[in-house]
Amino acid sequence: MEQIKIGMFDSGVGGLSVAREFFRQLPDLPLVYLADSAHVPYGDRSPEELVELGDAIVRRLRHEGAGWIVAACNTSSAVSLPILRKRYPEVPIIGMIEPGARAAVAATRNGRIGLLATQVTVRSGAYVEAIRRIAPEAVVVSQAAPLLVPLVEAGRLHDRETQVVLESYLEPLLNAQVDTVLLGCTHYPFLLPTFRRIVGGDISLVDPAASVIAELRSRLGRESAGSSSNGVSEGWAPPSTNSGAAKLTSLSPDRLRLLTTGDARRLAAAVHLLLGRPAPAVEQVELPVSSPSASRV
Ligand code: DGL
Repeated sequence: MEQIKIGMFDSGVGGLSVAREFFRQLPDLPLVYLADSAHVPYGDRSPEELVELGDAIVRRLRHEGAGWIVAACNTSSAVSLPILRKRYPEVPIIGMIEPGARAAVAATRNGRIGLLATQVTVRSGAYVEAIRRIAPEAVVVSQAAPLLVPLVEAGRLHDRETQVVLESYLEPLLNAQVDTVLLGCTHYPFLLPTFRRIVGGDISLVDPAASVIAELRSRLGRESAGSSSNGVSEGWAPPSTNSGAAKLTSLSPDRLRLLTTGDARRLAAAVHLLLGRPAPAVEQVELPVSSPSASRV
């Protein structure tokens, strides 16, 4: 079978939580990851900006030879993906929302799901719609969490301030008696230990990444033990693919190409911190867009 290259993007380092799952489930495929760090955060951008940025990124990833694309960004998935799919019908684009909704519905026992996400994702209603399509009776309680992305981008995963901020976002969800919290932004899984400390052992924490990559794997026709035909993952726990974990120790440039619109050294440091592996060389790229870059993070 011809080697397929997968493109993946996010506003910054958050999508690395999806890349991590990609390495576990598809250890043999090459990945091009683009971190649009010059424009992070996406979570308060207009739909027009998100479409412009998404369009430029799809073109860049196509230029890199990507035959499939994973939008490892819930905000883009919620807002710009339907438009990008129409513009680029020749390139399958996997998003976060449907797989994430399926994983949350599979995890909940009482039908009450808390959604933590960016302002744009919450406002779009995309997760609520996707969850209700699968489980019409489900109750979804949504909470925007604008302060978390800058904290994760700054690598402040274990700070006291991060815990306090997260507690304040989770409180309304816990008060609403949700039994499942959907991590609706790809930056949040890097805070899982803090989430767990706050919510205790009884709440399911759903990271859509396993379900997203299971869908990619299934659509690529690479079904293997652990994935089901509709792409539903077993909750948020990563499948135990030991061979994938073994290959993770040797991320070569053939296996992972890293691009950023921001600072190359910062992305390399973030990969090392978040994936626990030294990063291959990072290339700095520019996107031909008029959306203002942000120095907000
Ligand atoms: N990590 C992205 C998401 O999943 C974007 C966060 C942001 O840049 O605000 O929504």
